[in-house]
Amino acid sequence: MRHFLSVNDIDNPKAWIRMARELKANPRNFSELGKEKTLGLLFFNNSLRTRLSTQKAAFNLGLHCMIMNFGNEGWSLEFEDGTVMDTGKAEHIREAAGVVSQYCDILGIRAFASLTDKEKDEAEVVMNGFRNHATIPILNMESATGHPLQALADMITIAETSTKKKPKVVLSWAPHPKALPHAVANSFIEAMQCYKEVDFSITHPPGYELNPAITKDVPIYYDQDKALKEADYVYVKNWSSYTPYGKVLTTDPKWMITPEKLGAANFMHCLPVRRNVVVKDAVLNSEQSLVLAQANNRTYAAQTALKKLLESL
Ligand code: CP
Repeated sequence: MRHFLSVNDIDNPKAWIRMARELKANPRNFSELGKEKTLGLLFFNNSLRTRLSTQKAAFNLGLHCMIMNFGNEGWSLEFEDGTVMDTGKAEHIREAAGVVSQYCDILGIRAFASLTDKEKDEAEVVMNGFRNHATIPILNMESATGHPLQALADMITIAETSTKKKPKVVLSWAPHPKALPHAVANSFIEAMQCYKEVDFSITHPPGYELNPAITKDVPIYYDQDKALKEADYVYVKNWSSYTPYGKVLTTDPKWMITPEKLGAANFMHCLPVRRNVVVKDAVLNSEQSLVLAQANNRTYAAQTALKKLLESL
């Protein structure tokens, strides 16, 4: 595997989950693999889990880690070729990616969607800019359209907690005051499609349809109560509308997850989560909440992806 950019790079989900669980049981088993190698992590956006879990994964593999909050500490980057750089952009992606490639062996990038320019977001300008101009493997730590490390952690969490052969998993939209990207929802949907051993559906208010190229033939319900009936896992996430792009169409509190809506299901969310907006305290504080288990599995998701990249160097 040259890069880890999307869920599609997980060639064999069962094998990846098995590896992640083996690493979880013995985190330092491959502590020599990254010896004398450097992982660079560039953050164009905020993070708690991704930043710390990826560092922990790097430590477990013996990798040296260098981190930069590029969004507020780096030079403003120009991504287009042939531009006259006489305004705000101080550095071109060609030089930036070339320079970082000399300091690092693998490069992690976090760069969220703008939610203002659909074409640019779908072109993954930042992630692909580094992929095209760096000479080292790229690790997606959440891009404009996907968050594959989160999706892998979510698959691991379902695999290690499920008591059924084919559990019912529902992705439910929930209200949020801000316009949020589609990346987590997109990658979770792709993960459930490739994981296969789940009965998967989506529920959201009318107008919140995601990219049909991603949802494909996954059943979509506008009636949340009906969709959540007898669910084993309820994965909750807000996203802004896809068409029109990046808008908040409703903040209807009726879509907030309550203990009554959850029933006997497990609750999942990638975090951070706004309490009593997205989900009631009583759900997050209950034993049905898997959010800390998901966050813990971020380390082993990152460690699995980094191990694969190191083995391909
Ligand atoms: N779930 C997730 O990616 O968390 P952070 O944004 O804190 O990294």
